[in-house]
Amino acid sequence: MMNLTILGSTGSIGRGTLDVVARHPARYRVHALGANRQHEMLAEQCLRFSPRYAVLADLAAAELLRARLRDAGCPTEVLGGERALVEVSEAPETDALMAAIVGAAGLEAAIAAARAGKRILLANKESLVMAGDVFLSACRDGGATVLPIDSEHNAVFQCLPGGRADGPGIRRIVLTASGGPFRRASRETMARATPEQACAHPNWSMGRKISVDSATMMNKGLELIEAHYLFGLPGSRLDVVVHPQSIVHSMVEYTDGSMLAQLGNPDMRTPIAYALAYPERIDSGVAPLDLAMIGRLEFEEPDMDRFPCLRLAHDALRAGAGAPCILNAANEIAVDAFLSRRIGFDGIAALNERVLQAMGARPAGADVAGVLALDADSRRVALSELAKVPA
Ligand SMILES: NC(=O)c1ccc[n+]([C@@H]2O[C@H](COP(=O)([O-])OP(=O)(O)OC[C@H]3O[C@@H](n4cnc5c(N)ncnc54)[C@H](OP(=O)(O)O)[C@@H]3O)[C@@H](O)[C@H]2O)c1
Repeated sequence: MMNLTILGSTGSIGRGTLDVVARHPARYRVHALGANRQHEMLAEQCLRFSPRYAVLADLAAAELLRARLRDAGCPTEVLGGERALVEVSEAPETDALMAAIVGAAGLEAAIAAARAGKRILLANKESLVMAGDVFLSACRDGGATVLPIDSEHNAVFQCLPGGRADGPGIRRIVLTASGGPFRRASRETMARATPEQACAHPNWSMGRKISVDSATMMNKGLELIEAHYLFGLPGSRLDVVVHPQSIVHSMVEYTDGSMLAQLGNPDMRTPIAYALAYPERIDSGVAPLDLAMIGRLEFEEPDMDRFPCLRLAHDALRAGAGAPCILNAANEIAVDAFLSRRIGFDGIAALNERVLQAMGARPAGADVAGVLALDADSRRVALSELAKVPA
């Protein structure tokens, strides 16, 4: 029986995780659930899964959840505030953490779980992008195991012996990208794109932030940086190919000419189930792949001109030091501004570029406090650059 803490349980990955967990009641017990402020959904989850703790970062929402569970006679203890997210992640009762909070808000809990030597099911790619070295050294010190949830990195992990890319014979990793909703769109169409259009992903059903990142292809850029840290390869041995069907989830190329790929229907419950049960395999509820029905698998080069965010992420990976953290912070502000209709779709890349230029070369944070300080500085600069954009 594995005791699971699921942070971001009300989000797309969190709900997918609970769906898989519900299929295996004899294997997994939910120790704690955590989110930001969706108290009604978290209450439903508590009533169904009876965790020991439920945490909401937002204190007022935590109070509402407490009252609701008390009225329902649910014994789950409700905690409020960001610190409580960290506490349940490092608690001795937590065997494994599903780190599925979106954005930089997920960093501290992931690091705490790393230091406490947990099995970390890492969906929150932002932890690695903003604090790659700090996070990995916390994992080494604490003896934590990281299992990637991003479907691409999960695929690579499955195609590598022992999940490691530092052995002989590995030439490169190729991440697949769907191309998002604007794969064939002109620059003019993309400039006019609304949040609804940007979030309407052709293959995957995801949260709004990652959906916009898929539309700009920043998501693939963040994933390149994530792959660099997870698998230890330089940017020159990490490539992206656009594959609109999202059936091949990524590939590893070997020096003998072999290319190993992992295929499956685009449903995050496959990587979630893989990471939950690793090294075993369990039912995920995902329908088997019917290749004859799919018929065609296509591949094409990404267009760096129409998707400048992918180029910015390549550049940030090449520059190293603080650049990925700055880019991540700028992008979170830019995506927020786009979702609230403050800037247009093409304003996202423009804002990211201006923040990278304004911040200049900065060293990476040497510890969590250093990373958070660089993140905060970058957000300040991003907000001041945003203020210059005409309303
Ligand atoms: N969805 C996918 O298919 C997918 C695939 C690969 C990787 N990922 C990664 O997985 C992560 C989650 O993505 P998602 O699509 O599941 O996002 P989502 O649907 O937007 O859900 C985000 C979750 O994070 C919680 N949250 C947000 N801010 C928080 C804060 N300050 N403190 C505590 N909790 C907070 C939300 O709580 P509330 O509901 O209360 O706001 C929600 O539970 C992201 O890092 C994403 O890049 C997602």
